Amino acid sequence: MNDWNPSQYDEHARFVSDYGHAVVDLLDPKPNERILDLGCGDGALTVEMMRRGASVVGVDRSAEMIRAAIALGVDARLMSGDALTFSREFDAVFTNAALHWIPQADAVIAGVARALRPGGRFVGEFGGHGNVAAITVALRAAMDKRGVACRDFSPWFFPTPENYTKRLVKGGFVVDHIALIPRPTLLPTHMAGWLQTFAGPFFERCQPEDIPGVTEDAVDLLRPALCDDQGTWTADYVRLRFVARLTS
Ligand code: BEZ
Repeated sequence: MNDWNPSQYDEHARFVSDYGHAVVDLLDPKPNERILDLGCGDGALTVEMMRRGASVVGVDRSAEMIRAAIALGVDARLMSGDALTFSREFDAVFTNAALHWIPQADAVIAGVARALRPGGRFVGEFGGHGNVAAITVALRAAMDKRGVACRDFSPWFFPTPENYTKRLVKGGFVVDHIALIPRPTLLPTHMAGWLQTFAGPFFERCQPEDIPGVTEDAVDLLRPALCDDQGTWTADYVRLRFVARLTS
């Protein structure tokens, strides 16, 4: 699991919340609605929903991120997405770029269903099937070269729409919309910055002294596919975006 550092995140990954404004638009929070922001991070999108007049609670499992969100004035609480403790108190649950970190997807959906009032909506986006496929293969190859077995390892949950629809329906939701959206994503600080920020679970499996070599090899493998002739890096992101409603 990554240890999130808000300033590192701000430098290498601000695009995550920048892209998330479109998901806030999809949610369309209304004044006085009570909304749960699941995986609120540093609160950048939580404050956007608050600005639109909603009353928002943010939860995240990173204490550092919660501190950053509180500093922005968010009612932010330390809580894991697969262990939500709310009961029938929200009109909507919003989530952006968080659910791929939680493999216990059914526990997340059950907690969201408990947290919502009947008819409440669950709107979000996270990594979908095929997300960062090239990056994952390059990391696996670089680790394999050093004898670290991780061919079948992935710390991320990137489901197909069919897989996630089944889970939502089983959890008591009607799915109004769900789709994969390929979204090549410009990286502001090179592939090495992305790996440093997001690939922690891979690096935890190798010896600390091997991390610079694994990073270098992965970057070299990825350069022909993801770096253009101007030196600009683009990550192979695919999002899964959905709108669902609790039936009862
Ligand atoms: C994503 O937002 O797609 C993502 C985040 C961390 C690791 C992999 C993918």
